Amino acid sequence: MRVLFATSEAVPLIKTGGLADVSAALPAALHGMGVDVRLLLPAYPQVLKALPHLETATELSLFGFPAARLLAGRLPDGMPLWVIDCPELYLRGGGPYQDEHGMNWMDNAHRFGLLSRIAAVLGSAESPLGWKPDVVHCNDWQTALAPAYLNFSDNAAPSVMAIHNIAFQGIFPPQTTLELGLPAESFQMEGLEFYGNLSFLKAGLHYSDHITTVSPSYAEEIQTDALGFGLQGLLASRRKDLTGILNGIDTDEWNPAADPSLAQPYDATDLRGKTANKLELQRRMGLQTDPEAPLFGLVSRFTHQKGLDMVLEIAAQLVALPAQLVLLGAGDAGMQRAALELSHRHSGQIGAYVGFDEDLSHLIEAGADIFMMPSRFEPCGLNQMFSQRYGTPPVVHATGGLVDTVVDCSAESLERGDASGFKFYDVSAASLLAAAQRAVAAYHDKEVWKKLQLNGMSKDFGWGKSAAAYRDIYARLMRQ
Ligand code: ADP
Ligand code: GLC
Repeated sequence: MRVLFATSEAVPLIKTGGLADVSAALPAALHGMGVDVRLLLPAYPQVLKALPHLETATELSLFGFPAARLLAGRLPDGMPLWVIDCPELYLRGGGPYQDEHGMNWMDNAHRFGLLSRIAAVLGSAESPLGWKPDVVHCNDWQTALAPAYLNFSDNAAPSVMAIHNIAFQGIFPPQTTLELGLPAESFQMEGLEFYGNLSFLKAGLHYSDHITTVSPSYAEEIQTDALGFGLQGLLASRRKDLTGILNGIDTDEWNPAADPSLAQPYDATDLRGKTANKLELQRRMGLQTDPEAPLFGLVSRFTHQKGLDMVLEIAAQLVALPAQLVLLGAGDAGMQRAALELSHRHSGQIGAYVGFDEDLSHLIEAGADIFMMPSRFEPCGLNQMFSQRYGTPPVVHATGGLVDTVVDCSAESLERGDASGFKFYDVSAASLLAAAQRAVAAYHDKEVWKKLQLNGMSKDFGWGKSAAAYRDIYARLMRQ
């Protein structure tokens, strides 16, 4: 079984969020099951720097796009990949989607049109390569035109369209359709047209052979007006081709017993190392080093989606409980400023670091007592799984993957032995605060807390079951 996995980010090359984690861990898990997976992604400067030994596989000159070279190489873990070398589109500073000031690149339609187009070339009769995939697996809007291109190609492989976040759709002016070499007939409601514009994601959802998303709850939610972001009707009409498959995590990278970013390793048989990490975290973030104070941690993009505004709103009340808070993240400029201001106003109790820092994110998972994830919506979410694995019960809004991965602490769930965190059910700062207070009360009950920690730490968050579910979908498409 051969699968082309097209993505706009993958660790350890380039990462803005969970898509990068999934784009490395899922292919690796599939590979372990005997699937011949190859990655396709753009040659951003970060990618070229991380992969010095690339070889030219072919040159491509495609209508509507600058000339490009396909370079072949391998990820550090051995996974074969192709990167698209097109300096005009990809060789620049800033991030994959935005410039240094957080503005979307003006030519994103072409940047990700080319990624989609080449995925389709490799999956069809047009391919200059000897390796032909049985399935093209597309991820989010950045690769979502591939199913459309495949639809208009000869001898095309079937495609899977994976939704990691339906809020990002890749909407561009109507004339982009022809500029990107797609036929005029595709620009219609039964195609890639979306309220008068071209929508990359709608193209993927319309033309793909199967649709997946990253949790069972989110698969239901995106069929509703509240969370479908305008695509609920299309998704509901395709519900028999729509599967929610929970993401896993990389249990080697996220292993408190062997994590090089920690001050001291620990595991479920001996949690004492967690205190050393808490003290180290408090020191590093300028907090009072107090092993008893309940310490909340948060690692997140600073956006409305993630509910950071609610955390900022209740921060002073958390401190009054008393409790401490550490925040790590980047994004919205106003939220970044507000987080830093809070850390100055409550110095010693609140610490904030604005930026992207892998090491610190691991230390927060280990050193915090309670993790915070009040997302307004969350397709899957990875941090709540990391935190359970690190003995750090999360406080989460009951949405999407957070519903599917956290069991609310109650007399019954403690009795059953699966309580693993704290959920709140309506999006408000007051509900978040109430859940945080419940968490602090439980934290002070040593026996309850230990149970919660051990329940989370003993859960299987690996990729095994989920990778098998993807493999089954590929197999079904190959038989059709
Ligand atoms: P999303 O993809 O919506 O941002 P996820 O929970 O799926 O949410 O994944 C986010 C990933 O990015 C996690 O691996 C998280 O640890 C990481 N992350 C987010 N912000 C930062 C940051 N500022 N520093 C380090 N890692 C971060
Ligand atoms: C998206 C979602 C997040 C999910 C990740 C990986 O970024 O926001 O919930 O975990 O993709 O699938």
